[in-house]
Amino acid sequence: MAYHLSSAPIRFRFAAGLGLLVPRRRLSYVLGIETSCDDTGIAIVDTDGRVHSNVLYSQQEFHTRYGGIIPPRAQDLHRARIEDAYNRCLVEADLRPEQLTAIAVTNRPGLPLSLLVGLRFARHLARKLQKPLLPVHHMEAHALQARMENISAISFPFLCLLISGGHCQLALVRGPGRLTLLGQTLDDAPGEAFDKIARRLRLYVLPQYRAWNGGQAIEHAAQSAVCPDAYDFPLPLAQQRNCNFSFAGIKNNSFRAIRARERLEQTPPDGIISNYNDFCAGLLQAVSRHLMHRTQRALEYCLRPENGLFGDASPTLVVSGGVANNDVIYRNIEHLAGQYNCRSYRPFKRYCSDNGVMIAWHGIEQLLANSAQHLRFDYHNIDIQGSAGFKDSSVEDVTRSAIKCKWIKPLDHLRGRATAEAGHCDA
Ligand code: KG4
Ligand code: ZN
Repeated sequence: MAYHLSSAPIRFRFAAGLGLLVPRRRLSYVLGIETSCDDTGIAIVDTDGRVHSNVLYSQQEFHTRYGGIIPPRAQDLHRARIEDAYNRCLVEADLRPEQLTAIAVTNRPGLPLSLLVGLRFARHLARKLQKPLLPVHHMEAHALQARMENISAISFPFLCLLISGGHCQLALVRGPGRLTLLGQTLDDAPGEAFDKIARRLRLYVLPQYRAWNGGQAIEHAAQSAVCPDAYDFPLPLAQQRNCNFSFAGIKNNSFRAIRARERLEQTPPDGIISNYNDFCAGLLQAVSRHLMHRTQRALEYCLRPENGLFGDASPTLVVSGGVANNDVIYRNIEHLAGQYNCRSYRPFKRYCSDNGVMIAWHGIEQLLANSAQHLRFDYHNIDIQGSAGFKDSSVEDVTRSAIKCKWIKPLDHLRGRATAEAGHCDA
């Protein structure tokens, strides 16, 4: 079916300096729907990367009360809110449904019950409006989001560190649908570890953290640390020269350390250890160090002359996903990238965590990359996938390469300077 990228009329803009009206490039509008976990997000973005509306209903407060996400309840809440989110989105954007060019929806990976709500709603809309339906891989959407804000600076290929509540991955990004995995977590994701540790630490008893997610609370608490080295944390996978991650050791070690401190201080069941700020700072430093090591090896792998994975593009690193909100972690990764003359980016903070904008933007990227050749009207052939990897994997080659690195030390975020320029060599 022939389909034009834009359904918008030609507009005119005033060209300053020329003093006349010149035709403006036609814009396409994509509606993005995100329901892969516990956020109902719907947004409209245009081909110039302008966000026309962004509606986000978080379930955070509800799930915090029950100590974690209960999938059937998450599904109920998505169902109850999705229609309202869609209507608000159109009103905020001041657009009519017919003006949309396509509907993009997260169909993988995520909680199946949650994904289903978004996909069914998107199918219904696409059929009613006779618009193409663009299926979106949630982690790919995180990876491409920074381009919406920096499309001229972030060209393909780039290295991406994806750190969220469900994933931890390093991938080379060549375009939408063209990601190569270099490494991933063998157990927990960093956001998941932060959430579980914050709950065990009982940060929620402090009123300021009641409505926050674990990562946010830990980051805030760490800012008031006096002695960030008070606790020891293990360095995961120190003997494995690949780009995989592991956070289960740090998490279990944290549980043990908290229990020991609680015994020592005779903390009541609804209390919190006295030096929780120091604990949080040490934890952030340990997670940063692990993320830095694996990212450093991935950078060296991409930069190897025999691999030359950045090609003619200047080396670029993007950090994305909910944990990319964390300034300590991001600054450490930025510092590391700087040592390799590699530029680093993260999306605007409001778009690091799950939202509809990143799904709409991925839809735009699909339109731009495919030149409208592969638009899909076969709505029923698009289904959900609870788990889904990337197109290619170089994990085995990375492991075979066994790259030895001279570690770049994390910044000392309490004093805001590097603890040392270069560290020791790994085993
Ligand atoms: O990307 P996201 O919104 O959802 C998933 O796709 O998982 O990430 C959510 C995760 C949560 O686990 C949360 O603890 C973490 O992102 N997070 C943070 C911060 N803000 C959110 N972690 C560390 N520091 C933060 N400031
Ligand atoms: Zn996410």
